[in-house]
Amino acid sequence: MKVTNIIIILGPPGSGKGTQGKKLAEDLHYEYVSMGQVLRNYADTGSDLGLKIKEVIDAGRIIPDSWIKIIFHEVMMNLPDDCRGLILDGFPRDLDQEPILEDAVSRYGIEKIQVLFIEVPEEKLRERLNSRGRAGSLRADDDPKIFDTRFDQYRTRTFPLKAYLAKQGLLLEINGDQSIENVAEEIKNKLAR
Ligand code: AP5
Ligand code: MG
Repeated sequence: MKVTNIIIILGPPGSGKGTQGKKLAEDLHYEYVSMGQVLRNYADTGSDLGLKIKEVIDAGRIIPDSWIKIIFHEVMMNLPDDCRGLILDGFPRDLDQEPILEDAVSRYGIEKIQVLFIEVPEEKLRERLNSRGRAGSLRADDDPKIFDTRFDQYRTRTFPLKAYLAKQGLLLEINGDQSIENVAEEIKNKLAR
């Protein structure tokens, strides 16, 4: 399996990673993979591993890296042969997962990585996810009581990746606190620079 281009989308819970990632994948004819969705699919299988994953997701915490490593390689191996590029939502989630990505560069022939880091003020994220919960989201982690844990995991685990990725020259900062269309426009412009 060879994937030349990867666009990674990171950001706090509710920042619009999924909304923008799916849109971008359609525009570019890339594959879209949300690590969170892959993990929720595992949880739904009801297997022993699935049940353990479900417990961690529902509590708003991050899944252990040893499991993520295996699951990430499964994702890569399952991409179609004609894959033009990959939009990867939510991976790497912290500095400990970064070496998994680094190792993938040579293994899968990745030539270009761009990272979109979407930021939105905490209170707006809380509102967005509360309203998604009220609108009947099936995600147990959309419970308002879980938001603080999800945001705290972001703050302590994912946010530190930002400086690291900037140093690597991979980072594109995106203001997620604007309309969906304007965020998409900013992404398009920054990717093209
Ligand atoms: P994951 O599925 O990645 O969830 P998350 O990071 O908590 O983020 P969300 O999916 O809730 O939000 P989003 O940023 O995709 O925003 P969305 O577009 O939906 O991860 C879930 C769990 O899986 C983690 O907690 C962890 O346990 C585990 N996990 C995942 N990856 C992992 C990894 N690599 N390692 C270990 N564990 C991992 O938008 C949110 C809402 O806002 C929607 O209702 C949307 O319509 C609305 N919206 C979007 N854009 C806008 C806008 N511009 N203005 C107004 N509303 C907007
Ligand atoms: Mg999402």
